[in-house]
Amino acid sequence: METIKLYNERRSVNFFDKSKKVNSQTLKDIINVAVLAPSAFNLQPWRIIVAESDSAKERLMKLANNQEKVVEASVSLILVGNKNGWDDSNPVWAEMLQSVGGNQQMVDGAKQAAAYLYGSDEVRKMKFAESNVGLLAMSLMLAAKEYGVDSHPMSGIDFDGIHKEFGLGENETVVMLITFGYHDEAKPLYPRRPRLDFDKIVKVI
Ligand SMILES: Cc1cc2nc3c(=O)[nH]c(=O)nc-3n(C[C@H](O)[C@H](O)[C@H](O)COP(=O)(O)O)c2cc1C
Repeated sequence: METIKLYNERRSVNFFDKSKKVNSQTLKDIINVAVLAPSAFNLQPWRIIVAESDSAKERLMKLANNQEKVVEASVSLILVGNKNGWDDSNPVWAEMLQSVGGNQQMVDGAKQAAAYLYGSDEVRKMKFAESNVGLLAMSLMLAAKEYGVDSHPMSGIDFDGIHKEFGLGENETVVMLITFGYHDEAKPLYPRRPRLDFDKIVKVI
């Protein structure tokens, strides 16, 4: 789809057709293109838990203020950020070493910089996880739309509850949920609400 049209037509869809499933190859295609989203040092500090079974979606809905779209959508994704994605355990560093022709000094310099910029205190760690996953989130929704799949982002959720229920690690943080499915056309959406435009939000200095 033409990009501007894609932006115009993506909506947060509240009503999904429960009988229409996103097939597993389409889900893979969406995720594999969405991960082209940029991330700091290309560290990709994220993972995605896909709640597909009715039972997993039910467990999730209870921790998402009972928002029914969590179970009505074909799949509900938990977007998880890794607050320690800058540390040595990230396999991306090994790939980076290869990409720069084995220049260890260069990779060590990047690791040091990343550890300071993103790991030197809790605020930076959280910003690192949330900003990178935020970009992945938008990328996922636009990729989905390109594949004809509707979506809905959600942060009106119990972050700690989801963290516990789905067994996330100590350094992981739940950033948001995104549902994927197909709009139930019998239930129209509210017209899209207007945005604050350039003149309202931009200060050129
Ligand atoms: C981070 C984030 C969290 C959101 N959380 C919820 C939510 O918990 N429940 C909900 O109904 N909508 C939620 N929304 C959807 C917004 O209300 C919606 O994106 C906004 O009204 C604009 O509508 P549009 O996406 O159709 O253009 C969320 C959106 C974002 C980006």
